[in-house]
Amino acid sequence: MDKQIKWIANGNARNNGEKASLDFLSENETKKVMDFHQSFPQYQATPLKSLSNLAGCAGVSGIYVKDESYRFGLNAFKVLGGTYAIGRYLAGRLNRDISDLSFEKLKTKEIREKLGDITFTSATDGNHGRGVAWAAQQLGQRAVIYMPRGSSLVRLENIKATGAEGYITDLNYDDAVRLAAGNAQKHGWVIVQDTAWESYMDIPTWIMQGYATMAAEALEQLNRLGGKPTHVFVQAGVGALAGAMQGFFASAFAESRPITVVVEPDKADCIYKSALAGDGRPRNVTGDMDTIMAGLACGEPNSIGWEILWDYCDVFISCPDYVAAKGMRILGNPLGADPRVVSGESGAVTTGVLIDILQNENLSEIRDLLKLDKDSRILVFSTEGDTDPDSYRDIVWDGKYPSCGCKG
Ligand SMILES: Cc1ncc(COP(=O)(O)O)c(C=O)c1O
Repeated sequence: MDKQIKWIANGNARNNGEKASLDFLSENETKKVMDFHQSFPQYQATPLKSLSNLAGCAGVSGIYVKDESYRFGLNAFKVLGGTYAIGRYLAGRLNRDISDLSFEKLKTKEIREKLGDITFTSATDGNHGRGVAWAAQQLGQRAVIYMPRGSSLVRLENIKATGAEGYITDLNYDDAVRLAAGNAQKHGWVIVQDTAWESYMDIPTWIMQGYATMAAEALEQLNRLGGKPTHVFVQAGVGALAGAMQGFFASAFAESRPITVVVEPDKADCIYKSALAGDGRPRNVTGDMDTIMAGLACGEPNSIGWEILWDYCDVFISCPDYVAAKGMRILGNPLGADPRVVSGESGAVTTGVLIDILQNENLSEIRDLLKLDKDSRILVFSTEGDTDPDSYRDIVWDGKYPSCGCKG
């Protein structure tokens, strides 16, 4: 196998031109988001796992993995966005500020009666839809969730287990989004989608704000372990998560923000292709986007996320599936006393890419470009656990998608 990762450095990231506003990811806004999340009985900060033996082996100071398999018992970070967006939407309908509304208050009989029956809808590879369906269930509302063709049955069953209606369609992800949007319009439902388009900005903005809880927790945890990261590796589907993480760190640290790397599967690398085009305008990828990284199989960038990434993100990477598989095996088989991380395909790709860059001599150019060295403290997000357990075992136990084995 000779396919390697491809990368492009973003010359736009460190100039002093006018940049996208990060106000919606400021410390103040993030505090409101965290307060809301902390009002859920299921809330607990997910662990930040320090892989010090792996860091030593790879020649860097620290590798820290934010393990989102622990999030709200749902095995992925995505519920952070769905819950906050639904919270903000309901606050708007009630003419209240989100700061006045805890999860408990939203569940009261009085508020439930004021709101009446609401149906939330969304399209999803699994994780986002499960978060939306779960939030609707918790608040006594209905959800209808659409999935692209080829979606995992286990993920569908997990969505239905919340009481939501769930369907695997014959469409790719971006067309499933259009189906959900069309049905929302037709039936008076509320679409809670993690991507933005011209006439649809509020909910995706709130979803991105919701993700800030994960970054804020990670930063607090890293501060306890010696300070902010020098590098952040984050994966992208539509780029809402990556935009939120990038925006959070750029807002917190301005010019001294960590070097940020955005990672995508090569079959669905719309953010990488947008960067490659070089004019600041987003580009789409179409077709089946046949990758094991189901959560990242999205072909149309989120416009809010893309603007932030174009203005602030340092490097964009497009990588083959085996890199994600290698990341899963590395995290599932820790060195020495390092803690184990159960990480799914979309969750583990950032670790796979990082180790490839650190150990593959053919990638020394990008290693130097990123200034990765013995002083680097690297934060990676493992955004999901084994959300498709059969596929997890095929890869981690049986060695499906073997690594290229390149050390140079
Ligand atoms: C596990 C996982 N990681 C990362 C992402 C990427 O998020 P985004 O689509 O906002 O880029 C997703 C999206 O569904 C996901 O499910």
